[in-house]
Amino acid sequence: QNIFRRELVDVQGVPVFWGMAEEWSQVETFEARPDDLLIATYPKSGTTWLSEIVDLIYNNGDTEKCKRDAIYNRVPFMEFIIPGISSGIEQLQNVQSPRLVKTHLPVQLLPSSFWKNNCKMIYVARNAKDVAVSYYYFYQMAKIHPDPGTWEEFLESFMAGKVCFGSWYDHVKGWWEKKKDYHILYLFYEDMKENPKCEIQKLLKFLEKDMPEETVAKIVHHTSFDVMKQNPSANYTTLDNGEMDHSVSPFMRKGISGDWKNKFTVAQYERFEEDYKNKMKGSTLKFRSEI
Ligand code: PPS
Repeated sequence: QNIFRRELVDVQGVPVFWGMAEEWSQVETFEARPDDLLIATYPKSGTTWLSEIVDLIYNNGDTEKCKRDAIYNRVPFMEFIIPGISSGIEQLQNVQSPRLVKTHLPVQLLPSSFWKNNCKMIYVARNAKDVAVSYYYFYQMAKIHPDPGTWEEFLESFMAGKVCFGSWYDHVKGWWEKKKDYHILYLFYEDMKENPKCEIQKLLKFLEKDMPEETVAKIVHHTSFDVMKQNPSANYTTLDNGEMDHSVSPFMRKGISGDWKNKFTVAQYERFEEDYKNKMKGSTLKFRSEI
């Protein structure tokens, strides 16, 4: 029997997990610390990947140290609250500084203490069509989400922003705009895939850290999809509360760019692209066109 209430509830017009909506005042008043590092993403955009990379950077590439605990404990998911079962906020209160904090919140819902403390933030964006596909499989395996329906139906919900954490379009644009005024490093999943070393160098610069070439190479290897998929501290297989069913679809599913080509029909592609142009019109944020 499923103990999770598979229901989304709006917070300021953004659909989120019901427990999170119920406990929203706790999220809103979350106290960020000045040396917190925030990892912000729309779901399924490379959060876990970036989290593993950053934890390794914080631990000078010590891969054994980074196996000390599961990724969801090393980088707690701030706003994830299932009343009586888990709370990212409580988890974070017990973590020593400097903390790594995961969030999927759209920029307008981020607790104000992060802005007040001028915390460093890293945002990763992934192309919309691959996110939609990845999210569809995740909705099925992570039992806290409502039933996604058919792929066709889910794609409509995604385009309408009627999925958990709302509109992808507003999310990526909102964080992109905020980067003008705050300490935000904005990365792309596709760049990480193409040249992880180069993106790790950007992270090091942003975090004001120096590292020998060999250590960077070690991090690239340890955070490759194939290695992370086999790593119980990174692949979510240790979550034992029934929240995820990896036999439906593994958390570490494919880890590639362009998987949408295996899922979208030509008609879906055309409709999606037309709608995309409208929703992204006027923004300076551009995703690679070849993906
Ligand atoms: S979540 O639940 O929102 O935090 O998920 P998130 O970690 O953001 O995204 C999961 C997708 O990222 C893929 N992934 C990776 N890709 C490349 N390299 C590495 N190391 C890696 N780790 C995770 C994961 O497979 C999901 O994408 P899909 O397309 O479903 O495979």
